[in-house]
Amino acid sequence: MRRPIVAGNWKMNKTSAEAVKLAEELKPLLADVKGVDIVLCPPFTSLEATYKTIRGANLLLGAQDMFWEESGAYTGEISAKMLLTSGCKYVILGHSERRTYFGETNQTVNKKLKAALRAGLVPIVCVGERREEREAGVTQQIVEDHVAGAFEGIRAEQASEVVIAYEPVWAIGTGLTATPEQAQQVHAFIRQILTKLYNSNVGQQVRIQYGGSIKPDNATALFSQPDIDGGLVGGASLTASSFAEIVKSV
Ligand code: PGA
Repeated sequence: MRRPIVAGNWKMNKTSAEAVKLAEELKPLLADVKGVDIVLCPPFTSLEATYKTIRGANLLLGAQDMFWEESGAYTGEISAKMLLTSGCKYVILGHSERRTYFGETNQTVNKKLKAALRAGLVPIVCVGERREEREAGVTQQIVEDHVAGAFEGIRAEQASEVVIAYEPVWAIGTGLTATPEQAQQVHAFIRQILTKLYNSNVGQQVRIQYGGSIKPDNATALFSQPDIDGGLVGGASLTASSFAEIVKSV
């Protein structure tokens, strides 16, 4: 049985005070939820304040990115250990916005994935095709490149710990959601890729979230697909009531 996981990717939103307020609002709304990993991913500057707020509650902390080196002259970067010691358990890697605006490639995602696992963080690796790629019929090829590239050199025991987020780029922040069937098809395909790269245990154990315009009114249909284990939620995670509703529908 794969444990469902719903993460809120707050992106570049919320000052520390605003992050604390949102976390405070979420605590009572989600206090009764059991059997789900609920992860909040605020900006770096709000990690510690958010952690202090959610410590002891059933909410976990994640970051939105990290660098692969452990320390040194890398101005502006943040290491895995810095995240861990700020209370993070998870880290999002290879989000399409990082690939589009900050030059992330499958190679850099792979280096970050290795560094995150070495440090004991659980990576949430984002994969997914752009609109032109879907229209050109190369969705599977792109997703396979993203997955194989990210997992290069990762052993099977470690691979099964990783969370994958399938996020079709055309569905992120656009209000266009993949239909539950479209998403399910790609999720099942990702299990096939993992089975080919490793074995069927890894294919079945890895948790795969869907992401892209998840809202309270479409979450249930998406989460009820057999290979969808939860969601990575952007816009709708910025409001306590909508994020709580999405978490509860898993
Ligand atoms: P969205 O973002 O829910 O606003 O589409 C999802 C994501 O980018 O993780």
